[in-house]
Amino acid sequence: MTVAPPNLASAVPALEHLPLLARLPAVRRAIDEILSELRRTQASMTGIRGADPSKSESYVAWLKRNGELRGRPTMYPYIGAGFGNGALVQLADESVKWDMISSIGVNMFGHSDPRMVEAALESALSDVCMQGNLQHNADVLAVSEILVAEAGRTSRLRHCFVTNSGCMANENALKICQQKTKSAPRVIALRDCFMGRSTTMSQIGDTPAYRQGLVQNILVDYMPFYDPMLGARSTELAVAKLRELIERYPKQHSCFVMEVVQGEGGFNLAPREFLESLMRVCREASIPVWVDEVQTFGRTEEMFAFQASGLGEYVDVVTIGKLSQVCACLFAEDFNPGPGLIAGTFSSSTSAFHVGRRALEILRDGDYYGPNGRIARLHQAFRTAATDLIARRPEFFPPVIDGQGRTFGETMGGIGGMMRLTPLGGKKDQLNALLQLLFEEGVIALTCGHGPYHLRLLPPIGVMEPAQFKPVFEVIERALGRTR
Ligand SMILES: Cc1ncc(COP(=O)(O)O)c(C=O)c1O
Repeated sequence: MTVAPPNLASAVPALEHLPLLARLPAVRRAIDEILSELRRTQASMTGIRGADPSKSESYVAWLKRNGELRGRPTMYPYIGAGFGNGALVQLADESVKWDMISSIGVNMFGHSDPRMVEAALESALSDVCMQGNLQHNADVLAVSEILVAEAGRTSRLRHCFVTNSGCMANENALKICQQKTKSAPRVIALRDCFMGRSTTMSQIGDTPAYRQGLVQNILVDYMPFYDPMLGARSTELAVAKLRELIERYPKQHSCFVMEVVQGEGGFNLAPREFLESLMRVCREASIPVWVDEVQTFGRTEEMFAFQASGLGEYVDVVTIGKLSQVCACLFAEDFNPGPGLIAGTFSSSTSAFHVGRRALEILRDGDYYGPNGRIARLHQAFRTAATDLIARRPEFFPPVIDGQGRTFGETMGGIGGMMRLTPLGGKKDQLNALLQLLFEEGVIALTCGHGPYHLRLLPPIGVMEPAQFKPVFEVIERALGRTR
């Protein structure tokens, strides 16, 4: 498909984004000194280590207090020390662990990355801590410019509205779609999707516990996600179901929102034909296509997952977040809403914009993408380590039965920087127990899926080296050994 590239950036002179103070030679020297001290201190952190016993009493007290303040304990006994080295993070009890979840995909450069620290130091010299919609500095423009330029290469996306959470980006996307369709009351979503925690996003997201006790405030029609066991038939069935919905509720749908790779839903993949067939039907029926990339953004073999799947011509609205540090809703020209619809006091913090810009530039200019890019190589290293473990320790990988009583074929999966492993029959309670054992042994991970459940890894793809999967899998094996 040919999409005219956005011609915004070329016409605009370069805008200096470094705060004035951060350009002064004396300040540059001070920043360089901090960074060399950082590198020197990091050099000794090369692997996991246990907690300092002298800290254990106070650490337990902090955790207890944290739980009291929050009204519930944290999922892990985690309080960070604010220091680390790439994929390794130090906790306040002095223990060091492999961070294989990076705050659910946020910290793609891991911990204390000198490039990110440098950007954060520069941002601290800015005149203000927060950026807003009324007044903002050059960084906000720079982040939007990169996103529109990258997305616009293969799509009609031309505008970008930045926010400070994925959920708020999604709220903006929904508003834009509703206004475009003149208040169409229904939304089409994929089964097992996750969209964030506002009242509306909790309704659309397909996890019953997340909307327990909330008042229903939107009408959602769920579509099945791709079923690899049905193959091409899965696409036929989904298209038939979509047509049926459109016939049942003509002109009632404001959008079809989809994740190209499902995140919380289980790192589920769909072939291009599946998604394209659904998008085509939407196009025929004038139903806006909104791709939620809050979890996938940056992590597949292109910057946007819709690009990796070659679906750019169909997307009207795309939302992103997490590793970009700031979140955004991107939309096509004909989706630009009327004045007043999207706004808000904060966009995000100055440091989030400055660090986010730096992260995006590194992603764009580095060797991250493509079939032989850094992300693909990291994924391959994960698969090699997983294959080895599955072959040597089959007792950890009993058959997995899916929600329909069928044997689920894959014990590893995912794509790019989204990796999953399915030990212990994919059973929820056993996987939750495994997460705690992993934490004790030195790996921080999470689960995904709604049955089967999977061990979910969102490693810091910006800095993790393929060879580091060896020590990570040693810990995984040790933790699995303790489940028996
Ligand atoms: C696909 C998807 N959409 C939206 C969100 C919500 O983002 P946030 O937690 O930043 O509000 C998430 C968060 O995990 C997500 O995975």
